[in-house]
Amino acid sequence: MSNWHIGVIGGSGLYDPGALEDAQEISVASPFGEPSGPVTTGRIGGVQFTFIARHGAGHRFSPSHVNYCANVDVLKRCGVTDVLAISAIGSLKEEYAPGDFVAVEQLIDRTTGRQRSFFGDGIVAHVPLADPVCPRLTKLAAKAADRAGAKVHEGGTYVAIEGPQFSTRAESHMFRSWGADVIGMTAMPEARLVREAELPYALVGMVTDYDCWRDSEEDVDVAQIIKTMTTNAENARAMLAEFAAGLPKQRKASAIDTVLDTAIITPRELWD
Ligand code: ADE
Repeated sequence: MSNWHIGVIGGSGLYDPGALEDAQEISVASPFGEPSGPVTTGRIGGVQFTFIARHGAGHRFSPSHVNYCANVDVLKRCGVTDVLAISAIGSLKEEYAPGDFVAVEQLIDRTTGRQRSFFGDGIVAHVPLADPVCPRLTKLAAKAADRAGAKVHEGGTYVAIEGPQFSTRAESHMFRSWGADVIGMTAMPEARLVREAELPYALVGMVTDYDCWRDSEEDVDVAQIIKTMTTNAENARAMLAEFAAGLPKQRKASAIDTVLDTAIITPRELWD
C-alpha cells in the first residue's frame, strides 16, 4: 500500500469521486463546526483517497458559507497527506477556453469576512504562503489531467472573489490588468488553511466560462457553468484515476509537512 493519502475537495458539479474501491462514507466531527458533509474514503489502485464535496450534497453551501476550516480539519483528521482541490473557474484569458483545465500556480485573495486561519485564539502563527500551491503535487495533477485527455494549462493566477454575485465588467477588466488568469470563489481561504494544516495543496480549475470581459462572448451565468461542469465531471474523475496511477510509489516528505515548526510564535507553555 502506498503512503500517499489524497484528500480531494470537489467543487461545483463534482459531488462524488466516482468509483473508489472499498468506499465508505463516514461522518467526521470537527471542533471547527459542521463540515460540508460526510467524507467518502476508499482506494484507487492502492492509493487511499478521501473525498469531500465542498458545497455539500445538493450544493447547499454558497462560497461564503462553506466551512473551510471544518472541511480542511476533517481531511487532516482522516490522515490525508496532500490535498487536491478541483473547482469550476472563469477564464480571464483568451487562451483558456471553456472545457480546458488549469493547474493553478498563484492566488490573489479578494474574499472578505471568511475565517482564514485556525490560529489567533491565544496562539499566533504566521505560515509562509509565497507559493500557495505545492509544485510537486501540481505537476502530478497536471500530468494526470493531460493523460485523462483534457487540455491542460500549467501555471496561472487565480483571483478568489467573495461572490455570490459574479464580477462587474469593470472588476473583470481590473483583475485582468492585475495579471489574474482565472477567477473563482473558493480557493481562498481554502489554500491558506490547507497550508496551516501542513498539507501540500494543488488546485485544478476547470474552465466553465469567460466571465464578462470578452465582448464577443455571452456574460457568465450559472446555467453555462453547470452545463460545462457536468461534461467535465467525467474528465475530473478520469483525472483522479490517472493521478493515482501516476503517483511515485512512495511519498517523500515535503517541507510543507512541518511548516508549523517555524511558524508559531507563541511559546508552547502558553498554549492551552
Ligand atoms: N466560477 C466559475 N466561473 C466563475 C466566474 N466567472 N467568476 C467567479 N467564479 C466562477
